[in-house]
Amino acid sequence: MAYKAIRGMSDIVPPDVLLWQYVEAVTQDFFNKRSYGEIRTPLLEETDLFIRSIGEETDIVHKEMYTFNDRKGRNMSLRPEMTASVVRAVIENRLLVPDEVARFYYRGPMFRAERPQAGRRRQFHQIGVELFGTPEVYQDVEMIALIRDFLLKLGLTDDAFTVKVNFIGTKESREPYYTVLREYLKKHETALCDDCKRRLDTNILRVLDCKVEGCRSLCAKAPVITEHLGTEDAAHFSAIRQALDRLRIPYVVDPHMVRGLDYYTGLVFEVASAALGAQDALGAGGRYDGLVAACGGPDIGGIGFALGVERLLMVLAQSERFRNGLGCQPLVYVAHGNTAASRQEAFALYAHLASATGGVRVFIDTAKGSLKSQLRQANKQGAQAVVIIGDDELARGEVTIKNMTAGTQAAVKMSEAGDYLTKEITHCT
Ligand code: HAM
Repeated sequence: MAYKAIRGMSDIVPPDVLLWQYVEAVTQDFFNKRSYGEIRTPLLEETDLFIRSIGEETDIVHKEMYTFNDRKGRNMSLRPEMTASVVRAVIENRLLVPDEVARFYYRGPMFRAERPQAGRRRQFHQIGVELFGTPEVYQDVEMIALIRDFLLKLGLTDDAFTVKVNFIGTKESREPYYTVLREYLKKHETALCDDCKRRLDTNILRVLDCKVEGCRSLCAKAPVITEHLGTEDAAHFSAIRQALDRLRIPYVVDPHMVRGLDYYTGLVFEVASAALGAQDALGAGGRYDGLVAACGGPDIGGIGFALGVERLLMVLAQSERFRNGLGCQPLVYVAHGNTAASRQEAFALYAHLASATGGVRVFIDTAKGSLKSQLRQANKQGAQAVVIIGDDELARGEVTIKNMTAGTQAAVKMSEAGDYLTKEITHCT
């Protein structure tokens, strides 16, 4: 019986995993340098946390969560996103100090039972940040600048993505907009799907991000929120845009974007990439003032974003920088003769070369018998150097080092093999 991974969930295997490792290394360095502390939370949470924060009427909670009762009958869900978990964790671990800004980043798997397709998985990964503090325009600006700087750091250029922004205000300040939107949608109610007919009364904003085609075309012509903002909201949005302009950060206003999660309260944004096709959202986020208090914490603002790692890798793989792979990854192949003594010596050298200061990437296949088959394997793997410890070399206390690029070879004292390799061969030109 051959088992298969669950539909919509993928293994990440070599060599693909190399690009994941590259992104993870850049992530850690980038966010550490900006004083974002890494936060790791469990994959499972009480279902109620997601209902309360993301919202009962959202597609995520209504249709996409992996929810079950444990052996004691407690209802729990695999996390579909991280904002709710981070909010719970910062409250529980008392990480919020009044009047002080607190910054966190995270990465890891999320779970949504969506219909799998290119760029849409049931287990997918996010890299994201959450910032807590007294709400301030420069926090909104920081988020947009941060997501852009991160993408540039990874090797993308401004023309590879578009930052779209909108402003949706709070539940209270949205009331005048709800009235005009309801009037418009009621006129066309028969064209709405059953979920949206219900949402007209329960949570009208969610109609605007319904994925059903009939609802989508209706919403494309609906009144937009930016034309119905109160004075304070309009001024806040204008201040954000002015700051972005001054910092020369490219963006476009998309007045139709409202985002599919209930907790948003002000600026919302999305980063889209044409390289992605239908699922073009590379990342997204927004402000969620009120969520911390609603989850039992202090009255403090919050804002953040998350990028989809699978989508990020799709865009990176097509970019100029990575189209031909990750570049030079020098490899030293350690080859041995057909005796126990030379195998033993080769194995010791293999371990030493990798762990010595400034160690190199090494490979050995102790099951191989002939030197010829080892050299063939070294070639196939694209090794830059082969270190040979045969019986003759062993007797002389030397190794033969073959430079596979130059086609030359040299006899080197065994104790000097490491230095010779780092100086003479294993570096990228
Ligand atoms: P979201 O828009 O639901 O926001 O997800 C963020 C990103 O995760 C998307 O733009 C997309 O790249 C990726 N993503 C979502 N679903 C899938 C999927 N099924 N397969 C592959 N990638 C996917 C959030 O999750 C919010 N928590 C973002 C946030 C943080 N807002 C404030 N703070």
